[in-house]
Amino acid sequence: MATFQTLPGFREFYPEDLARRNHVFRLWRQTAVAYGFAEYDAPVLEPLDLYKAKSGEEIEAQLFSFTDKGGREVALRPEMTPTVCRLVGARANALKRPIKWFSIAEFYRYERMQKGRGRCFNQFNADIFGEPGPEAEIELVALLIQCLCAFGLNEQDFYVRLSDRNLWFYYLEALGLDEPRIRGVLGAVDRYEKYGDDAFKGYTEQFGALDAVLKDRILAFLQIKSLEALEHTLASLGDKLTARLADWRKLLGGLEAMGFAPYVTVDLGVVRGLAYYTGFVFEAFDRKGELRALAGGGRYDDLVQKLGGPALPAVGFAIGDMTFALLLEQRGLMPTLVTAPDVYCVIGGPAERLAAFADIQALRAMGFRVDYPLKDSAFGKQFKAAAESGAKLALIYGTDELAKGIVKIRDLKDRTEHEVRPGDVCSVVRDFISAG
Ligand code: HAM
Repeated sequence: MATFQTLPGFREFYPEDLARRNHVFRLWRQTAVAYGFAEYDAPVLEPLDLYKAKSGEEIEAQLFSFTDKGGREVALRPEMTPTVCRLVGARANALKRPIKWFSIAEFYRYERMQKGRGRCFNQFNADIFGEPGPEAEIELVALLIQCLCAFGLNEQDFYVRLSDRNLWFYYLEALGLDEPRIRGVLGAVDRYEKYGDDAFKGYTEQFGALDAVLKDRILAFLQIKSLEALEHTLASLGDKLTARLADWRKLLGGLEAMGFAPYVTVDLGVVRGLAYYTGFVFEAFDRKGELRALAGGGRYDDLVQKLGGPALPAVGFAIGDMTFALLLEQRGLMPTLVTAPDVYCVIGGPAERLAAFADIQALRAMGFRVDYPLKDSAFGKQFKAAAESGAKLALIYGTDELAKGIVKIRDLKDRTEHEVRPGDVCSVVRDFISAG
């Protein structure tokens, strides 16, 4: 017999898995709302052109794409950023600024499978449109950090590496490189952590070997880990760099005032692979360095316009759910979520069942979780099911009870029993549950 399995890289969520995922989504949503972000959603299938030449070569190569029955080239979304740019761009004039939006959604990338990487995953995306200054970055980096702290993680568990494509551009410009060469160097910087010196191979093939002195300065720049060292290196290299350093001071000062300084590291090794980033960029990692990136984001001031909207500055980030769940599990911060009922009903037979239904329905309408056996069975079996369900209370609708005009209520922890008149069942259950 043929057996069907999930496609490689796709996940199934059994109830206990979905309970954990819902827990994560719930805290992300709660945190975003506390920061004044509004939730949106959009289609999972998009025109292929939305990603072509906009997301970057890596994502383009990983697209799940096909031609639909109407002959349209379409793709399952690999990320939210182009989509949210289209949404905001279409109503840019009507939306109150700054536009602070978030979403929790599923994405698809045909990636090589590794720990924390799949072909179908979820992201929490948060973006701010309409704010050109670092005030938007303060808000977003703070939200990113709080989205992780909300689960009990702290600065010993993760950190945010903060970098700046503008600073790289201005610095390399000051060192005499033109734009194509600057892009070539940034490509090498993006790969340097993984490949070491080999990261410069592509640059050498395209432009010839990088001058040794220049390369030393680039590698030294890569090592910078503090604002003071940045200021020292860039002090006399022109107004653009001086003005940019003022943005850095504002951003780091704001985060420090919020108490988030211990979470943020200056790290110019982050330049981000996606094609559209234009300014500050950042990524979150676990401190032990055992896992892939937890989150990534940055400023992308040109993308709304490139996708047909007005010129609108933008910055945002996404947290992925896979690496994040691994980190929570490693730290023992993923709760075991039990979906136990409050009340389990033990029912004698068909007549008793009808009597029980009235209370079952009334209790459920009050918001209590109530369960009962769908088929008649022996009392012993039902009591076992009641105990295994994890319920706090059992309601007993036996023939004797019905004849006496009462319902028995049993505390499943200490096994004490009381008799209740049928009209009092709901109030007695409510008092018992609210007393804890
Ligand atoms: P990204 O760096 O491609 O950025 O993805 C953000 C996060 O999504 C990653 O750090 C990772 O946790 C998760 N992620 C990405 N690919 C996979 C995968 N194949 N399997 C599991 N998790 C994955 C973006 O997507 C940008 N659009 C973020 C953004 C929002 N920039 C501005 N606004």
